[in-house]
Parts: sequence; C-alpha cells; structure tokens
Amino acid sequence: MRYLDFSNGDRMPALGLGTWMAAPGEVASAIKEAVKIGYRHIDCASIYGNEAEIGEAFAEIFAEGQVTRDDLWITSKLWSNRHGKDDVVPAIEASIEALRCEYLDLYLVHWPVAIRADAEPPTQPTDLVSLEELPLADTWAGMEGALERGLARHIGVSNYSPKKLSDHLSMAHKPEVNQVELHPYLAQPKLLKFAQENQIQLTAYSPLGSSGRPEGMKAANERALLEDPTVSAIAGRLSITPAQVLLAWALQRGTSAIPKSVNPERLAQNFAAASIELDDATMAEIATLDAHRRYVTGDFWAKPGSPYTVAALWDE
Ligand code: A2P
Repeated sequence: MRYLDFSNGDRMPALGLGTWMAAPGEVASAIKEAVKIGYRHIDCASIYGNEAEIGEAFAEIFAEGQVTRDDLWITSKLWSNRHGKDDVVPAIEASIEALRCEYLDLYLVHWPVAIRADAEPPTQPTDLVSLEELPLADTWAGMEGALERGLARHIGVSNYSPKKLSDHLSMAHKPEVNQVELHPYLAQPKLLKFAQENQIQLTAYSPLGSSGRPEGMKAANERALLEDPTVSAIAGRLSITPAQVLLAWALQRGTSAIPKSVNPERLAQNFAAASIELDDATMAEIATLDAHRRYVTGDFWAKPGSPYTVAALWDE
C-alpha cells in the first residue's frame, strides 16, 4: 500500500473506500468485507445518511479484535448546514457517535457552501447563505476547535479551489487535505502542483467516473470514463481492468483515491490496484485524456436566485 504522509508522522493509506451512495442495508457488509480484504481507510460523511450503519460495522469489527480503531483511518465531513464557528464541534461529535469510532483521523468541510441550519435539504435559493454572510474563515475556526479538542487528528476541506485554499494558508492550522473530484478527464494538474507546494494532500473522489451517482446529476450523453478507449486499451495490454488503470494512475500521481463499491469482487479488484505500477509512457498516455470535465459540476448549488454560481464555486 502507498501512504500519504502528514507532518506529525501520521500516514493515510492512499487507497480508501468511498461510501457515498452505499445504500442502507448494504453498506455494513461492504465495510466488513473491505476490512477483511485489507482496506484501512474509510471515507464517510454525515450527508451520506449511512454513518450509523457504518458505525455498527466498525463496532463488530473492533469486537472481533483483529483490527483495532487505531488500525483504521476514518474520515468524515461537515455538512453545509453546520457551517459557522459554533456548529462544528457538535457536528463532529454527532459523526463520531454515529460511527462509534472515538475520534476521526480526518474531518473535512464538505463544500465551500453554506445552508441555513434548519433548511436541510435546501428547497429554495434563500435556504443558502452567502459566503459574505457566513465566511469560510468562521467555519474554519470551528474546525480548528475540533482539532484542538482532539476530536479530529487532522482537518481539511473538500471541493476547494486553489484560491479558497490560499485564503486558509495563514490560519493557525492550515488544511492538510483537499478532497476533490480527480480522474483522467479532470486531472487538475495546477491544483495538484499548488497542493504539493503547500504540503496539502489531495484525495480523489469519483476516481472511476462516478457512474453510480443519481440520474439527476448526470448530463445527457456523458462520456463514461470506465469505457474510455484509451483506458480500455491500456487495461487490455496490461491484463488488468479499466478501474485498476484509473486507480493505479491516481495513486502513482501521489494522491489518495476513494473508489466506492459495495460489491465484494469489485472491492477486491480495486484494492489490488494499489499494488500495480504503471510505467512513465502509460502515465503520459493517460495524461492526454485531460479535458477538465467534471462529473460533479456543483450546479445544484447554483440554481436561479442562489448566492452561488458555478464559476465562483470553482473560481474558474
Ligand atoms: P458498485 O458499488 O456496484 O461496485 P466512483 O468511486 O467513481 O464514484 O465510482 C463508483 C461506481 O463505480 C459505483 O457505481 C460502483 O458500483 C462502480 N464500481 C466500483 N468499482 C468498480 C470496478 N472495479 N469496475 C466497475 N465499476 C465499479
């Protein structure tokens, strides 16, 4: 397994298990199967609605005794209706309680977007709060409070542009991780360079192209990354699967990746990708696929009347 190193000596296993869209009734068995296979990094979030079931799986795993809490790297995320300095600690405490995990290895601000506390899910533009009204710096102060209390060992952000990250670099504790969509169609080389220059680790979400996300979030005739001809040709040449090509590429660039699966065979296949090496020519071939194409565009934050726009969300 490759690891991403933190300045205090902690190490995050580069390949983790994503749990977005892992449905109630199937996520607990997926977690248990994943840990049996060897996964030691589990990526969660309160908005996924499955933390309590994941917590039951963790409790069973720890009771069996072969894998302890300290053997796992557990991440969760602050949902947008808990932004602001004072709401962060109660929110992380709720996730820790649901996950039955004592502390989090990593806690992330899920989106640089705020929702009114009582308006989840937001149904109208006025349910969103602008960043002028509720600055990200206030939310970050709450994240620092969670760190200082030992509720999280590391804190970071998700879906932040280099510009928004820059605004946090002078804070007492700067973000140690930015979790963003990353795959060959959205390689984000400038963001990767910025992160590396500032000792911020990147975690790749939707590393397989997020084919399982809700239909309402899909564009008509979108290109399926797992069916990309170049990726398939490389997979055929190396006798591995397209998913393994994508994951080996992600890890070899120095990022973490958190493919979601609830299927035992695909869980094992994805985990095995952490041991695959791609040569420089293959890495370069995959780099030619970059089209700056997002699957998760964030347009759901930018409906008419919203204080957010897609352009301002990504600062591009
Ligand atoms: P499933 O859970 O049934 O395996 P992403 O992590 O990019 O969001 O992609 C997750 C989607 O890709 C899920 O729908 C998942 O379905 C599917 N998936 C996960 N692993 C593989 C794989 N090795 N090959 C093909 N599809 C996969």
